[in-house]
Parts: sequence; C-alpha cells; structure tokens
Amino acid sequence: MNAIGVDVGGTKIAAGLVSSGGELLRSVRYPSSGPPEKLLENIARAVLEAGEGSEVGGVCLAVPGFILSKENKVIFSPNLRTIEGIPLKEELGRRTGLNVTVENDANAAAWGEFRFGTGRHVDHLVFLTLGTGVGGGVIIGGELLRGAQGAGGELGHVTIQATGPRCNCGNRGCLEAMASGTAIRRRALELAAERPDSALGQLAAERDLLGEDVTRLAREGDEAARRVLEEAGVWLGIGVAGFVNVFNPEMVAVGGGVAEAGDFILEPARREVQLRSMSPSRDLVEIRLASLGVRSGMLGAAALARHPSGECVLGG
Ligand code: BGC
Ligand code: NA
Ligand code: ZN
Repeated sequence: MNAIGVDVGGTKIAAGLVSSGGELLRSVRYPSSGPPEKLLENIARAVLEAGEGSEVGGVCLAVPGFILSKENKVIFSPNLRTIEGIPLKEELGRRTGLNVTVENDANAAAWGEFRFGTGRHVDHLVFLTLGTGVGGGVIIGGELLRGAQGAGGELGHVTIQATGPRCNCGNRGCLEAMASGTAIRRRALELAAERPDSALGQLAAERDLLGEDVTRLAREGDEAARRVLEEAGVWLGIGVAGFVNVFNPEMVAVGGGVAEAGDFILEPARREVQLRSMSPSRDLVEIRLASLGVRSGMLGAAALARHPSGECVLGG
C-alpha cells in the first residue's frame, strides 16, 4: 500500500504519493498562504489529488516548528503561524477520510535520508537542514528521537555563541542565528560593507544579495564570499562537534539550500569537529551532504505515515 507525505512549508504545500520502495509516484502543490480554513482546505485538496485512484494507508504532515506528537498539533511555527493549535488529525481526517499524523519537518527529512537517501546504510544518523531556519533530526539505533513531547531534535536552537545575534526563537546565538541562509545573508551584507572592492561588495552595491550569490562568488574565487561561508562552516562545526559527542553518530548529513555551498561550508565544519569532538567519536563520523534534496521531507513523512492501528504504512 502507498502512503502520502506532505511538506507544509512557509509558502507551499507539497504532497507526494510514495510507494513502499520510496518511489515518488505523484506530487501535487498548493500555496500555504491564507487563513487556517484555507490552509486546511489546500492540504486536504493536495492529499486527495496526490492519492487519487490509489489505495492510501495514511498521511503524515512535515511541519516546521515545535510539534506535540500525541496531540498531532503544532504549537509554535514562526514561519507558518496559521497552523498553530489546529487539531490536524481530526480536521484533515474529516476532510480526507485518512489517518493523519504530524512530524517536525527536519525530523521527517532526517527519516527520508535514513530510509532512502545518504543515510540508508547507517543506524546512527544526525541530520541538519540549513535553510531559512536550521532544522535537525536525530536517529539513534534506527529510532527517530522525538523526546518527551515531539520537539526533540531541535538542533538549530542550540546556543553556539553566547552573545551572538538574536534568533527567531527569541534566544541569542543559536546555530540557526549563525549558520542559516538568513545568517549567511546578514554576514555577507556586513562583509560587503567592510570590503567594497570585493566582488561581494560590488554586487551588494548594485542589488540585494541572495544566499546563492554568496556561493557563486565563492566558487568564482572571491575572498570575502569565501570568508562568509568559512565562518558559517566554523559555527556549524562547533554545533556538530557537540552533537558528535552527545550522539556518537556514524554520519552527519547536511541538507537545505545552504548545503549547495558544499565544501566551502563542510570543510571548516569538519576541521572544527576534529578539533573539538572526542576521539574515537570524531574518527568514526562522516560529515557529508544529504542526497535527496527538497524531496527528503516528503519521502520521510510518507515513510512515517501510519495506519489507524499505529503501524507504519510503508513498513519499518
Ligand atoms: C524550527 C524547526 C525547523 C527548522 C527548519 C527551525 O527554525 O525551529 O522546527 O525544523 O526551522 O524548518
Ligand atoms: Na527536528
Ligand atoms: Zn533559536
């Protein structure tokens, strides 16, 4: 039987029908803007269209923010305020006739990489997604870590710089505040102002800088752009060094838009891990790019979808 994974992001809803082998059979998109009623209607439509003509065992929504697993609710989602507090299982169950559960987006993406992507040969995986925010997912001994409520694995909100910039969560110096796409853009603007003669400085004087500009300029050899990524990589590595000590994973997989910067960001991160983590954990761990791209959340969510009995539709 197939399952449906739905990535519910700040701008769009992407629902995918997935086979037990992890094959994406069909996918459908709707916007996630509008009031709660519209959001529910669009999620339900996406699910029904994705599943049309197929036997569907269950649905799992991957949502950014803090979720309560038992209640299948999202309690705090800075990028999607409209979803907060909605009883999703009941509301969507009524509209689709399917069993609906909820998971954190990065937890779902971690599960996708673990089942079908770069982590499929390991049992102990730490996953990070670096985008607008920084999400985390931890799989230990083949089990997804959810913690007491479902908010476990929020690796992006670990403090790595006590006096660092304000984070979206209200704290200072979180990994998200130092190594997200948003943080990289902020730092790029600072360095562009300090070095107006660099390619970064020149571009910033012409137009608004985007995250991907920094990566492109780094590839073209601009020192200022390289420094922005190097610094982000160091902060990432400081975070990862701690995760390596805590979890002793075989692999740390890094995804999200920022991961496009590849070794510009991963090399400094690996260096920090070698400097700061304990041996033998640091000798074992491999730090590499995730392989499923934007599909990881949808595929992982589908693999987490459950029958009403609680059994996973696509098997364990
Ligand atoms: C949120 C996480 C989410 C991540 C990626 C963070 O700001 O706290 O729950 O996984 O962004 O969307
Ligand atoms: Na998470
Ligand atoms: Zn934070």
